[in-house]
Amino acid sequence: MTPRLSPAADAAGPRFGPGRHALRGATLSFHADPFLNDPHASYTHLPDALVVLEDGKIAEAGPYDRLRSRVEGAMPVAHYPDALILPGFVDTHIHYPQTQMIGAFGEQLLEWLNKYTFVTEQQFADRSHAGLVSELFLRELLRAGTTTAAVYCTVHPESVDAFFEASQRFGTRMIAGKVLMDRNAPDALTDTAESGYEQSKALIEKWHGRGRQLYCITPRFAATSSDAQLQAAARLWREHPGTYVQTHLSENLGEVDWIAQLFPDCGDYFEVYRRAGLAGPRAIFAHAVHVSEEELCACHRAGAALAHCPTSNLFLGSGLFRLFDAKRADRPVRVGLGTDIGAGTAFSQLQTLNEAYKVAALNQTPLTAAHAFYLATRGGAQALYLDDRLGAIEPGYEADLVVLDLKCTPLMDFRMRYCAELDERLFVLMTLGDDRAVRATYVAGRPVYDRARQPQPFCHADGMDAPPPA
Ligand code: GUN
Ligand code: ZN
Repeated sequence: MTPRLSPAADAAGPRFGPGRHALRGATLSFHADPFLNDPHASYTHLPDALVVLEDGKIAEAGPYDRLRSRVEGAMPVAHYPDALILPGFVDTHIHYPQTQMIGAFGEQLLEWLNKYTFVTEQQFADRSHAGLVSELFLRELLRAGTTTAAVYCTVHPESVDAFFEASQRFGTRMIAGKVLMDRNAPDALTDTAESGYEQSKALIEKWHGRGRQLYCITPRFAATSSDAQLQAAARLWREHPGTYVQTHLSENLGEVDWIAQLFPDCGDYFEVYRRAGLAGPRAIFAHAVHVSEEELCACHRAGAALAHCPTSNLFLGSGLFRLFDAKRADRPVRVGLGTDIGAGTAFSQLQTLNEAYKVAALNQTPLTAAHAFYLATRGGAQALYLDDRLGAIEPGYEADLVVLDLKCTPLMDFRMRYCAELDERLFVLMTLGDDRAVRATYVAGRPVYDRARQPQPFCHADGMDAPPPA
């Protein structure tokens, strides 16, 4: 698919900066939660729309016929026929240092951590390695159409600097933080309650709110943080309003048993975090596969979010997350999608939805395309308390967008011919689609990834070519 460009765009593909410019194509954007409202009344689909971008934000969005007279001739327009323009995808749980160990064979969670993860993460003491992997990781996210993610770095503060520096270059809105671990991990990967607090505090002062970067206090999970470290993390969170907390919850049955032994006076796993002061708005708990009704109620009351990571839960044999139970209307929990790279097996939210559908099917609760695309866009933003600025194509929202190619493979092209309704097209997109479906990814109004712009599809926020790192 070649975009048709107005004369103001260069021949190799659009590279628009902060000035006014527009995208033309079909759009899909959610304004309500389909788990709690009529799914078909939850979104707006415009078969031919104009989305006007200015200064990194969406200035206007509406039907082409209504806006054309004011837009055409007044600004460059990138036209994407046979495409669907969506808000950039939101990934609520991912580990950048694990990019190099995706697809590690044969183990469940606790053995997998010891055998692969804790070995790999030691390499991130090396600042240049962390820089290289950060850059490659962000490119993979952008190639998959993901523009915001909640990201684990490693225990090394340098790994956080490397990541945020790379994110600044692309202008992406990222949420990330230094892993805290003061027990049950190799010495080379542990800090202490005090040093973890001090290092995280310095990183918050350096990075939180700098450009589009947001800081996330990151105790890995209750098995690798003492109660003292969990409490220090909670103190830090209270002292820095607006920062995030991320950790893991109830992923694997062996892990759940271990937590019960480590914290015998807590009634359940969620209680460990709640009692320490780590449950509240802007806390993100990954997995929650084996949580009880009481834990879901507590999570709802706290305003905390769960990250559903289906490719990871299947790959590690962890179990089946009960999505529709978590979103139950009488006590809905905020839920976003997570790829959980490197236990997860795809950067693509389309592939993540493909697996989420299968997990839901095994729970006898089919996931409709409307529910699915909400989770990947506005639902993720809502889980992160960013739905006032991310996850929708509406005036005033940050101009992070993904352009999906509905004819990206011969099979997709052929299959789409047999789709009568939008629902069907969306469902085929999430079943057959992956990074090949991503035609372009806009970050703060700029197409930082454009598949058609060759030989260099990436550019940085300053508009300069971003060749792959050596
Ligand atoms: N639990 C604690 N650490 C991890 C991790 O790195 N990945 C996953 N999937 N689960 C965890
Ligand atoms: Zn994880």
